[in-house]
Amino acid sequence: MSTTNPIGVFDSGVGGLSVLHDIRRTLPNEDLLYVADSIHAPYGDKSQQFIEARSIAITEFLVSRNAKAIVVACNTATGAAVTALRSRFSVPIIAMEPAVKPAAVNTKSGVIGVLATSRTLVSDNFVQLFSQYGADVEILGQACPGLVEQVEAGDLSGDKTRLLLEQYVLPLLERRADTLVLGCTHYPFLAPLIREIAGPSVTVIDSAAAVARQLYKRLETGNLLVDADRVGSECFWTSGSLNKLRPLVAHLWQTDVEVYALPAYFVNVDRNKLI
Ligand code: DGL
Repeated sequence: MSTTNPIGVFDSGVGGLSVLHDIRRTLPNEDLLYVADSIHAPYGDKSQQFIEARSIAITEFLVSRNAKAIVVACNTATGAAVTALRSRFSVPIIAMEPAVKPAAVNTKSGVIGVLATSRTLVSDNFVQLFSQYGADVEILGQACPGLVEQVEAGDLSGDKTRLLLEQYVLPLLERRADTLVLGCTHYPFLAPLIREIAGPSVTVIDSAAAVARQLYKRLETGNLLVDADRVGSECFWTSGSLNKLRPLVAHLWQTDVEVYALPAYFVNVDRNKLI
């Protein structure tokens, strides 16, 4: 495996770009490949088998492009597929974990809220986090249907997005949550609005920086870090509409980018069998 090989990153859509930002900050010299599985977003309402099949297909694509490590930049795919990915692929697989641990350390009121998809909240990974930290602090899981769709539509601050967020955030504040964990990689793009609704006394945290640090460590221990003397590139693919994704990725990545179509072989899963 060459150190100049790229790092593969994927999500159900554009949410993983919030993680890609931290990866770029932490690893400025690495080439990054990003896949948005937009045609199948959101993953939150799909079956575990479907998400697993999609995660395997996308990882196969990234490995076919010589990825030296894979970042599952999606909490829902982590919960549904990380075990299958780790048993099937030999490259390091770095995955998400909602930032419950730092939230449990940070809270003064002893109550933390976790905003995530329903599927993440019932995943084994989350249930384990809950039992690990739930004895010391009260953990309130809040499923947030509709938010991923708002981010995929590029609506980060409109009325519908605000209404949905108020519906999810205000009950947590009423129950004295002083720390909100963003347990879905789409939600950091809504953080300004979440902060506005929650007010300055509430801390809002996500795990993107921790995942980027973990990726750095895995590459370092595997002697896979690229030489420092180069500027890394980014390349983007989507299984969905290129016309829709180009402006959205450019907006969220804050620079004009080219987005390519994910080859059909990696897009088609027998949905009727798997949903
Ligand atoms: N970004 C994904 C996550 O972190 C969104 C899941 C979905 O598509 O429902 O969970």
